[in-house]
Amino acid sequence: MSTDSTGSNEAPPIKLWGGRFSGDTNALVDAFNASIDFDRRLYREDIAGSIAHARMLASREIISTEDRDAIVAGLEAIRDEIDADEFEFRIDREDIHLNIEAALIERIGDAGRRLHTGRSRNDQVATDTRLFARAACDQILIELRQMRSALLELAEREAETVMPGYTHLQRAQPILLAHHLLAYEAMFARDTERFAQARARVNVSPLGAGALAGVTYPIDREMTAEELGFEGIATNSLDAVSDRDFAVDIHSAAALAMVHLSRLSEEIILWVSAEFRFANLDDAFATGSSIMPQKKNADVAELTRGKSARVIGNLMQSLALLKSQPLAYNKDNQEDKEPLFDTVDTLLISLRVMSAMLPTMTFNARDTAEAAVADFALATDYADYLAKRNVPFREAHEAIGALVARCEAEGRTLEELSLEELQAAHSAFEADALDINLESALAARDVPGGTAPATVAAAREAALARLTAEGSEGSEA
Ligand code: ARG
Repeated sequence: MSTDSTGSNEAPPIKLWGGRFSGDTNALVDAFNASIDFDRRLYREDIAGSIAHARMLASREIISTEDRDAIVAGLEAIRDEIDADEFEFRIDREDIHLNIEAALIERIGDAGRRLHTGRSRNDQVATDTRLFARAACDQILIELRQMRSALLELAEREAETVMPGYTHLQRAQPILLAHHLLAYEAMFARDTERFAQARARVNVSPLGAGALAGVTYPIDREMTAEELGFEGIATNSLDAVSDRDFAVDIHSAAALAMVHLSRLSEEIILWVSAEFRFANLDDAFATGSSIMPQKKNADVAELTRGKSARVIGNLMQSLALLKSQPLAYNKDNQEDKEPLFDTVDTLLISLRVMSAMLPTMTFNARDTAEAAVADFALATDYADYLAKRNVPFREAHEAIGALVARCEAEGRTLEELSLEELQAAHSAFEADALDINLESALAARDVPGGTAPATVAAAREAALARLTAEGSEGSEA
């Protein structure tokens, strides 16, 4: 195939698809149709995809090596221009693909006009979006690791801190703060798995599917896939151009991660309130009130909780976007980008700010320990004491329940009762019942997954080992 080296560099028509049109586009339609205001964010992905495509076309002798070189150099120059903020994005050129292609034609003439051989914007945009999504997964995975390591470090620092564990937000049984923090680490560990799985499904090349049915040139789909770092190629051209499941995967994993962040935020908001007084925020991570001089607000946690709403919304949007689309590509899919960008940005900043805030928090260990045993939080341990001396658990439960009611009426605690009073409640009580206390309650819960200090320390070590092992897997990949 010969290169048209005398090819004209005259300005490309405003609409690169305008051949069959004789009338102009309505200005409202131009504005409505254009995505350049947001999809310009994909310029690096778009240029990488085009360079891979041009190299493949030349290797299959569909274009000449001269044209390939002109295309690659032209695209690299355009990328530098955009990097330097010197590129003029034009709304009449609709989207990132046509903006770059038209600019390329202006620069290099006919070679630029050959770039779109054997390709459609439909496989092009799917490729760009997948490249973006893959990089997003990688960044999110890094931030999730940061969050997990912040939680593990805090669990180590606060290894001695005891607090009430809650059910129904009522004090239930004493736990270690570290145990509570490790519960969040477990959530973010599952988020890590979900994003790793989402990344694997993202990392498939749609390029070469053409508009919908494949293309008529002897292209090499494996070559472009490999050059772009994809694990394989999408095997059905209709699915390749219309599939946005990978975006739903990301929204779904992100929504759940945001829900985890939101739950943690909610706890922090409670803990730093005067009602709890369990924890304190560093000045660097708190804000004041414009009217009430005494206020120190947990805005970071509140905003994280609030932002989880928008990510959940984006998940709903992504599902609704797909639900009525017939095969294959429809312009509806242009609406996939803003929510995807928003979800990724929101999750990244939320993870970053929350994992930066956690190590700066301090805990009021004396208050939390006091709260840990208050409100009859050791009642289960008294019932267990009896059950371990062969009293049927239901009978023990009943006896301690009555004791609690009596103490409550008299304004006393279970620990204040004498052996005689205990024995009056149930004859199976013996002198060692007076040893039931916070330490014994914690130490007794040494089943796997329990809150006994040695068990929690081992769980923290195990979580750290998992995190480290995942890190070295990542660096091998
Ligand atoms: N801007 C479009 C999008 O975001 C690019 C694909 C357009 N394809 C088409 N056949 N009009 O989906």
